[in-house]
Amino acid sequence: MTDETNLIAWSLEEVADRHGDPTAAVYDRLFAKSPEMAELFIGDKTGAARGEMLAVVFQTLLDFSSEGAFGANMVRAEIINHEGLGVPPGVFTTFFATVMETLRELLGDDWTPPVAAAWDDLLAGLETAIHSEAAA
Ligand code: HEM
Repeated sequence: MTDETNLIAWSLEEVADRHGDPTAAVYDRLFAKSPEMAELFIGDKTGAARGEMLAVVFQTLLDFSSEGAFGANMVRAEIINHEGLGVPPGVFTTFFATVMETLRELLGDDWTPPVAAAWDDLLAGLETAIHSEAAA
């Protein structure tokens, strides 16, 4: 059961209900914007890693938006884990923005000002977590 007051959870569920799995839409948008990122996923022949990664990203966003400690810790831990994959911290900003843009496009008119504001807040909080790790 979705917490109706959590518009991040609402938007993720609404997209899944209406459009199914948004994995392809997110990575298509990412690679269109930053073609060099496609090279990072060259070993992921089946797309399984991309799908698994996005599922963990959604869990992280949900936890972050309900003010759990897991989300912020997860972002910090993944910045360190991903260094070995050649992913610099700044790319996390691009990735989270790409998730937001994909959902915004898929939701169309249902991307209302309160939903947009919830995502703006979330992205600002994530940015703080990214910078706290990048500066550490
Ligand atoms: C909070 C943010 C992120 C989380 C939670 C996350 C999580 C994960 C997880 C769980 C995997 C392993 C997937 C698997 O093999 O089953 C993974 C792999 C990977 N992630 Fe992320 N990730 C994040 C951000 C990013 C960003 C911003 C990029 C850059 C575009 C990135 C690039 C990659 C790459 C290149 C792999 C390896 C794919 C492969 O196995 O070929 N990740 N990520």
